[in-house]
Amino acid sequence: MTINNMNTEYSGKNYIITGGTSGIGRCICLELSYLGANVALIARNQERLRQTYEKMSAGNHAAISFDVNDISGISGIIDNVYVQYGTIDGFVHCVGSGEASRLSRLSYDKLHAAMLSGYYAFVEFVRCVAGKRNKAAPLRIVSISSAASVTHAKHLTAYAAAKSALEAATRTLSAEFISKKVTVNAVRPAYVRTARLATVNELTGDIEEHLKRTGFQPQGLIEPEDAAKLAIYLLGDAAKSITGMVFSINGGAQC
Ligand SMILES: NC(=O)c1ccc[n+]([C@@H]2O[C@H](COP(=O)([O-])OP(=O)(O)OC[C@H]3O[C@@H](n4cnc5c(N)ncnc54)[C@H](OP(=O)(O)O)[C@@H]3O)[C@@H](O)[C@H]2O)c1
Repeated sequence: MTINNMNTEYSGKNYIITGGTSGIGRCICLELSYLGANVALIARNQERLRQTYEKMSAGNHAAISFDVNDISGISGIIDNVYVQYGTIDGFVHCVGSGEASRLSRLSYDKLHAAMLSGYYAFVEFVRCVAGKRNKAAPLRIVSISSAASVTHAKHLTAYAAAKSALEAATRTLSAEFISKKVTVNAVRPAYVRTARLATVNELTGDIEEHLKRTGFQPQGLIEPEDAAKLAIYLLGDAAKSITGMVFSINGGAQC
């Protein structure tokens, strides 16, 4: 493969992206469409789905309004996407998992909610997508984890647990697929400039100022486009010999 091929290798390929209407997921959808890929993007809010869809380059895209917490509904969504595409080349699970919360406000329901969207949904999506794959063709799976899985940040008990579980599944599923043409990897961002940081700002004050002042993330917030490009690299042929790995994009944070 030449370097130039990197610009054409995504063209005509089919990808499913959860959380595709905001932040990192939205950047992945837009960038893949600019590269000529077809994208089935999944999120709940129909207006944001429409807005993202309209920003994408022309292609055989699908904007699917679906709550990934509806675990039993995932197989039906995947069935429909396969009817549209015939084959899937990659899947990225971008939906976040759980809000920041002090221990005093934490509950079983919040812990469960974080696992539901961040971990159970990922495993079910992978089960359904892999179950329908063309065994002769590669399938690339990427999960979006978080630095919270390995750092000591406070208020992230539910979130960090779900992300740790997500990384564990990334390793174990990659091992299950090791002799197949399926790769499973994770991107582990530190703090990224997205809407998601609003709840963190409420607890910490201005997070960007906090990150620089404390030296936790000396380069400041990461741009979502940069995290998206790392995920897109892992969807590509150049990443065919990488599986079961976690890649940090850290802004200088030690994670
Ligand atoms: N931002 C950061 O600092 C940071 C750092 C490390 C890791 N991450 C991880 O990176 C990923 C993307 O984060 P982000 O900051 O880019 O997120 P974001 O801007 O908050 O966007 C979240 C996306 O997920 C969708 N979504 C949320 N819950 C959903 C559900 N139950 N079913 C279907 N779609 C759902 C949202 O659309 P709807 O609301 O319309 O459904 C939206 O498209 C997450 O896994 C997050 O944990 C983020």
